[in-house]
Amino acid sequence: MNSPIFLDYAASTPTDPSVAEVMQQHLCLGDVFANPASRGHVYGWQADEAVETARAELASTLNADPREIVWTSGATESDNLAIKGLLSRGLRLGRKHIVTSAIEHKAVLDTCAWMEAQGFAVTYLMPNEMGVITPEQVASAIRGDTLVVSLMQVNNELGSICDLGRIASICREQGVLSHTDAAQSFGKLPLDVQALGVDMLSLSGHKIYGPKGIGALYVRRQDGLALDAQIHGGGHEMGMRSGTLPTHQIVGLTAAAKLMQAQMTDETRRIGMLRDRFVSHLQQIPGVHLNSPPRQSIPHILNVAFDGIDGETLLLALNGIAISTGSACNSASVEPSHVLRGIGMSRELAHASLRFSFGRYTTDTDIDSAGTHVADVLGRLRQ
Ligand SMILES: Cc1ncc(COP(=O)(O)O)c(C=O)c1O
Repeated sequence: MNSPIFLDYAASTPTDPSVAEVMQQHLCLGDVFANPASRGHVYGWQADEAVETARAELASTLNADPREIVWTSGATESDNLAIKGLLSRGLRLGRKHIVTSAIEHKAVLDTCAWMEAQGFAVTYLMPNEMGVITPEQVASAIRGDTLVVSLMQVNNELGSICDLGRIASICREQGVLSHTDAAQSFGKLPLDVQALGVDMLSLSGHKIYGPKGIGALYVRRQDGLALDAQIHGGGHEMGMRSGTLPTHQIVGLTAAAKLMQAQMTDETRRIGMLRDRFVSHLQQIPGVHLNSPPRQSIPHILNVAFDGIDGETLLLALNGIAISTGSACNSASVEPSHVLRGIGMSRELAHASLRFSFGRYTTDTDIDSAGTHVADVLGRLRQ
């Protein structure tokens, strides 16, 4: 049997071979393998230099200062650090209110639920039917005691994009901090933290053809913005995140980020053409609805609902392609996706939705084969 066609790039991407090669040079004896915090020998200095060079390079892809980059294990940890890390600031300033949305990734939603258990109030904004939270909604949700607004830039199920620049500027005018989960936008949209004006930004390696288990949190250097560490130990990362730095992961993430940036314009155009090609296949099938907005969305993600069919059944029958349901990421859950429900879809249609996501190695042939496969399987199931 042929391997299924991989159309699940929003869940994770394969590591680019050039990135794997850079990582390989930071593992074994004879290469740069030592603990970057070892100050007493040349091996430690070499590792430290590799980490600090990567920090400066990653910062430059965001137009940030290298001292504003905190290495983490991924976007989940970055989101946790950004929000939980503000707990003592919130208590000290008497600001115990958080604004977020109902369609955030669980890394933000569960973290906000934890903050609620600590006595904070959380406002969950509802998106419009495009899956977008508007700056006006944010402006009216901010209260005198709001500590932070945390909104993702690109939604991981729909691909919808919010106007982060305007949202961050509203926050700034109101003296409120802003955080964004940029796991799905980093490397796919031009990101300049100075122009955007966000205070914190989470990113992840494995969404951009880098390794899993590595990410970063951008934390704006400004008076008084210090996050409470969530992992205690040797006081690494300016006291915000302890633990021996994984040099090979860090150089991998940075190499992947540089590659994404260099290829962004061409890649976005190419993936947009693939998405359109796939949509033309789907348009020939009756009872197909595009859940992703036609505008204000990235082309890499296409969420689709199929009338009269259960998403899980369809997913299993579509064994020629590797995709995800639009359902909750918890596979044990029978609940339909909170994101699709959040944009007002019925339980039935939300259950009958699948996410197709395209990437660096997707070809026209993949798209044509996948389109034919979906049409065949749907036809069979509907009979
Ligand atoms: C928007 C968003 N945030 C956070 C995450 C979690 O990222 P990581 O796997 O790096 O912890 C993901 C990935 O599933 C995501 O899509």
